[in-house]
Amino acid sequence: MAITDINQRKKLLAQDNVYLPHLVVIDKIIEETPSIRTLHFNFKDGKLRKEFTFESGQFAELSIFGIGEATFCISSSPTRNGHLECTINRVGVVTNAMHRLSIGTEIGFRGPYGNSFPFELMRGKNLVFVGGGIGLAPLRSLIWNVLDNRDKYENIDIIYGARSPVDLCFKYDLDIWNQDKTINMITTVDKGDKNWMGREGFVPAVLEQIAPSAKKAIAVVCGPPIMIRLTFPVLEKLGFVPGQMITTLEKRMKCGIGKCGRCNIGNLYVCRDGPVFTYAQIRNFISDEY
Ligand code: FES
Repeated sequence: MAITDINQRKKLLAQDNVYLPHLVVIDKIIEETPSIRTLHFNFKDGKLRKEFTFESGQFAELSIFGIGEATFCISSSPTRNGHLECTINRVGVVTNAMHRLSIGTEIGFRGPYGNSFPFELMRGKNLVFVGGGIGLAPLRSLIWNVLDNRDKYENIDIIYGARSPVDLCFKYDLDIWNQDKTINMITTVDKGDKNWMGREGFVPAVLEQIAPSAKKAIAVVCGPPIMIRLTFPVLEKLGFVPGQMITTLEKRMKCGIGKCGRCNIGNLYVCRDGPVFTYAQIRNFISDEY
């Protein structure tokens, strides 16, 4: 599969009106950190519950009626169906409202939108996952997908960090990955607290120390823009070429379907051309715009 093929469109959920959300019901809420929570939900409509499919890396529009909608990656893996998960950082009006929702509430769901991680490119390779903060959300969908098909991949390194121990997301998954002997799992925090016995250090610096080989490898990087920007040069230093480095961008999305123009970066629309890109596609403008 050529690198450029990662822009293949995946089929959208069949809808007469792409602006019309489907109803989903929240069935579980996990408080990940003081400002991040994960909603578990499922479609109200039984047919959709059975037929809905998506791929790791794709995103959706969630809406609270009377308040508004916003885009979120789907943080659960398609290999673990039964429900969907989106992980929400409390930063604005809609996300604050989502932090007030409770189990049983009905919200709107449009999607899935965007492209997905290039599994054909990753198959048979060594995989290096680099995540920061809530950036683990899209990465987590991919990681579980890969782990559920473990025989198709070689070595797996996961390097994940957050500002402090309390800011680590998906601690229940980190525990499982830590115990998995087929994974090299490294967790780090910028600054520990009095109970933190683990590693300290910024994700790009820790990546440089771990120094995974670039041979037959693909690196997938998801996190805050500053972390993404500082991680690519480290990967280059380790011998990765731009086509071996993949990331997701989530900037300023609104409509999710290439209509509003809000999400353009360089000559790309994040919603229409991504959100998954290789570094080869974005390296010319990432330092200025992202
Ligand atoms: S979100 Fe509207 S064009 Fe991309």
